[in-house]
Amino acid sequence: METPDIVLFFGRFHPIILHLPIGFLVLAFLLELLSRMERFRVYRPAVGLALFLGAASALVAVILGLMLAEGGGYGEELLNLHKWLGIATVVLAIVAFLLYRKRSKQENPTLDKVYVSTLSVMVLVLMGAGHFGGSLTHGSDYLTQYMPNPLRKVAGLPAKESKEVKLITNLEEAVVYEDIIHPIIDSRCVSCHNPDKKKGELMMHTAEALLAGGENGDIFVPGDPATSEMLVRVHLPEEDEDHMPPDGKSQLTDDQIALLTWWIDQGASFDKTVAQIEVNEETQLVLNTLLDPNANKSEVEVLLASEITPADKQLVSSIQQRGVMIMPLAEEVHWLQVNVPRSASADSLMSELGKAAEQITWLDLGNTATTDEALKAISSFKNLTRLHLENTQVTDAGLASIAELPYLEYLNLYGTQVSNEGVQQLAQMPNLRKLYLWQTQVTKEGATQLQEANPDLEINMGVEEWKAVKADSAVALR
Ligand code: HEC
Repeated sequence: METPDIVLFFGRFHPIILHLPIGFLVLAFLLELLSRMERFRVYRPAVGLALFLGAASALVAVILGLMLAEGGGYGEELLNLHKWLGIATVVLAIVAFLLYRKRSKQENPTLDKVYVSTLSVMVLVLMGAGHFGGSLTHGSDYLTQYMPNPLRKVAGLPAKESKEVKLITNLEEAVVYEDIIHPIIDSRCVSCHNPDKKKGELMMHTAEALLAGGENGDIFVPGDPATSEMLVRVHLPEEDEDHMPPDGKSQLTDDQIALLTWWIDQGASFDKTVAQIEVNEETQLVLNTLLDPNANKSEVEVLLASEITPADKQLVSSIQQRGVMIMPLAEEVHWLQVNVPRSASADSLMSELGKAAEQITWLDLGNTATTDEALKAISSFKNLTRLHLENTQVTDAGLASIAELPYLEYLNLYGTQVSNEGVQQLAQMPNLRKLYLWQTQVTKEGATQLQEANPDLEINMGVEEWKAVKADSAVALR
């Protein structure tokens, strides 16, 4: 039978209300202990109030908790423990309150002992209820997840797994489910689909659990990713109620989705190795990232994904004071982008910028009075990936320094005096991918020659000219 919405509605208040009895009952216990000291005797009457409020709020919390449990999705075993410890807390709190009242009327050492024992047991039971409640919502390893290894040993827990993604050393021999699929599911799905927390009556922590399916039956159809419920849900828009993992939780990456799809498409085997099933070209690219996370990244992407020591703060602010825009490339990274305003004297700025040469990766000197002289300093900007020199006084002579930049990917020379001869110096730059030569002395022939020397380069000569270069270049037509 469906649980009425109103029951589930009130049930959701359980996680909020439960803090009240914890606070009141622990307070009652502490006040009781304190009031036994002469100095704190005045607290004695307050114990009764704290106990009363604690018992009453615990009763409300239990009722709401029972309503919440009606919604299902929790592991039986943990839920039962939590439920009965919660109920025991209420009973013990009520008994403690009655004993407190009785003791107020008659001083009797035996009665006092019974009362204090009840109170102590109640606090222990309360802690237990709280602990298992926490495990229900956060998973049973919530408390111990970050426990240091020596402590884990004492507690009899297995050593922590390293946080880094487990890389595969031999792809061909890797077992597809065990080495590739399980780690994905484990990191993105198992937190809600395990024996303690069976959302949708579905567990995903083992092969058997996956095969058992959820409340609506099978979650995958071997060989048919399109009708496999687990993938259907992954592909729903994120705001859809049925989208997995639910909105706001860590989502699967495109690569992870591709791997899950590939596994199901190839029959969802639990024991075959990569060598035993078909791997198409796209899947191979994704699989390569399991051997080396940087497999599909360009050198420039790898560079910018790496850590760099931050530039000196004082230096950055003194550069800023000269009207230069200098700021991080993105939030929480130390790579810098610099934009020199038209009015600034780029030549005199270069020596100061040079002190942050390691961190500066985008430099915009476009439309300034930059000369070849200033460009001599550019060769020390080893990590430069983008350089704007459009409409500057740069000539062929300046390009020699630029040719030494190992990571330069983008170079804009639009509207400068560079010529065919000068740009040939750029032919061997390993990472250069985009070059703007519109309105320079470079001719169609010059650009074609450069294109043939570096087939990965995209040369922009202005729309019409570029088409001509493409047409003339045998390489570009390949
Ligand atoms: C934050 C918790 C959470 C995470 C993480 C999560 N799920 Fe779920 N999942 C739920 C809830 C809640 C339901 C039940 C509600 C429903 O049916 O929409 C559910 C239901 C499902 C169902 C339907 C089961 C059935 O038979 O009705 C599938 C399939 C599913 N999840 C797959 C996944 C996959 C695959 C992942 C990981 C990529 C995942 N879930 C991660 C909470 C989660």
